[in-house]
Amino acid sequence: MGNCTQKLTTSTSLSPAMENNNSPTNAAEHNQKIDPRNYDDVLSVAASIREQVGEDVARADLGIICGSGLGPIGDTVQDATILPYSKIPGFPTTHVVGHKGNMIFGKLGGKKVVCLQGRFHPYEHNMDLALCTLPVRVMHQLGIKIMIVSNAAGGINAVLRHGDLMLIKDHIFLPALAGFSPLVGCNDPRFGARFVSVHDAYDKQLRQLAIDVGRRSDMTLYEGVYVMSGGPQYESPAEVSLFKTVGADALGMSTCHEVTVARQCGIKVLGFSLITNIANLDADASVEVSHEEVMDIAQQAGERASRFVSDIITEITL
Ligand code: HPA
Repeated sequence: MGNCTQKLTTSTSLSPAMENNNSPTNAAEHNQKIDPRNYDDVLSVAASIREQVGEDVARADLGIICGSGLGPIGDTVQDATILPYSKIPGFPTTHVVGHKGNMIFGKLGGKKVVCLQGRFHPYEHNMDLALCTLPVRVMHQLGIKIMIVSNAAGGINAVLRHGDLMLIKDHIFLPALAGFSPLVGCNDPRFGARFVSVHDAYDKQLRQLAIDVGRRSDMTLYEGVYVMSGGPQYESPAEVSLFKTVGADALGMSTCHEVTVARQCGIKVLGFSLITNIANLDADASVEVSHEEVMDIAQQAGERASRFVSDIITEITL
């Protein structure tokens, strides 16, 4: 196993919210420290979740990461069991306005799902990408075979308009090209391959299914390349031009790290970007992006997008 199973002294401590929690299964009572790079620690996080919600509830076939725009999908999960992140060992708290912090178990479209209402953005957590992808590794332990991810994104391709949905065909994981990958560091082979192939990161059959469902429901669906920047500042017009030149259609600050880890452990991925603003290419134009605008459009278009994703889930064969 090499020395990857050794505990790092810099392990992530429990979130402050958990320290005030009185639940008997509260990991704070076990004084547990979690290193998201340690395989056995990931197993113990999954074990804590099973202990808290029950073995059967915790077992899921499909995981959903609700970025801005797919938040409403968490509210449509049937027979829902909600576990706040503050009760999950090693999960940091999410501070981004509009992002809740819950793991929701239940049924959607006839499938057993686990839904993450709120994700961890690297810019909130000092670019600790292993920490930000801990939920993906945990969902893998809970049994998921397919992960659906969504994000709010700025449209770069001129055909994209506010509220459009773009199916992600491929991505440019900019932080990883500069060394910020969740897979950097020693790799316990139980997580998966050291060198992960991402040529087919977004599953072709699932994309085709989404296109078919979209056609039947009159949902205009674009397909394109998503670029992830580190954020949290929005991109300058020159940066947007750079992304356009290298083939990106939409940009945001999330998703690629989660998809990379999902692929390492063999989870198939379907990804969507909800276009909440149009990225500005002209330094002379006074176009300002605001988080309020992003959240506003995400809220307006979110319900329709959530219904669409739930229709896709109904048609997925596991
Ligand atoms: N840039 C980066 N992230 C975003 C944007 C954007 O324009 N819109 C929504 N998330």
